[in-house]
Amino acid sequence: MIELKGKTAFITGAAGGIGLGIAQALTREGAAVVLADIDGVEVEKAAATLRDQGAKALALHFDATDPAAWEDAKAQAERTFGPVRILCSNAGAFGASGPVESIEPKLWRWLFAINADAHLHAARTFLPELKASGDEAHIVNTISMAGIFAAPMAGAYNATKFAALGLSMTLRNELIGTKIGVSALCPGYVATRLAKTSLLNQPREQPADAAATEAFASALRQGMSPGRIGPRVVEAIKANEFYIFPHQSYRPVVEAVHHRQLASFNHQADPADQDDISALLSII
Ligand SMILES: NC(=O)c1ccc[n+]([C@@H]2O[C@H](COP(=O)([O-])OP(=O)(O)OC[C@H]3O[C@@H](n4cnc5c(N)ncnc54)[C@H](O)[C@@H]3O)[C@@H](O)[C@H]2O)c1
Repeated sequence: MIELKGKTAFITGAAGGIGLGIAQALTREGAAVVLADIDGVEVEKAAATLRDQGAKALALHFDATDPAAWEDAKAQAERTFGPVRILCSNAGAFGASGPVESIEPKLWRWLFAINADAHLHAARTFLPELKASGDEAHIVNTISMAGIFAAPMAGAYNATKFAALGLSMTLRNELIGTKIGVSALCPGYVATRLAKTSLLNQPREQPADAAATEAFASALRQGMSPGRIGPRVVEAIKANEFYIFPHQSYRPVVEAVHHRQLASFNHQADPADQDDISALLSII
């Protein structure tokens, strides 16, 4: 079990919401935390609050879509607290994209940059040194239930989260046999400012659909407290669990998705199919 006390954690999108919830839970375990966020003002306030509580916390004003910013942030984090061993790639955004045929390419590319590409930048920045160190470490990528099933009218967001889950699962499988664990955090609704922070940052050709934005904000307000997500993430890091589904209520959704997939195997295309998948099974 990984020891968190004295470790340095780097958390993106940590000015509030789920990222700050994870940071708080990690500081309670004795980790030093680097909070990195595009909102320089809010992230500084968040770090100051943690420092007031006696934690070691550094705020960085940073854009997770910029690969060069990752290199600078890693250097600053290490200069302040030493090598990063817990990496939480959590920054993200939502975009109500409407029916698929109306998805704006600009919105699509922006959502991919923050919700999918940023996880790649995170791995490219931190993994070489993590692997070389041979130390125990853990990576948590924040995905969503939207990476497991695809609700209508959010095609761009869903696509980014499916991409991010695929990357995370690949990472997990590539790192088997090392001391680096990987988790994919897949929450349902959490009471955060995601509707607001997403609107602040998104480029659009057309104004965002006000009714869809309000419906999303309203669903968020009914969501789970980020204060409950953080301790669950810490528990999963310690136990090296890949999937983190904090919302029990979504269990039937996961079951239904898997049921539909399995049902399709009842209809064979070629009864002679005999692909050898034993090697695959050993890494799943
Ligand atoms: N709130 C939910 O219901 C929910 C559910 C499932 C998944 N998620 C995911 O959780 C993650 C955190 O979201 P949240 O709900 O805590 O909302 P949030 O708005 O509190 O947190 C997102 C943070 O990311 C920051 N951010 C946005 N773009 C950035 C960039 N380019 N570089 C650095 N920081 C950037 C924002 O400033 C914000 O502080 C996201 O990936 C989101 O998709 C949220």
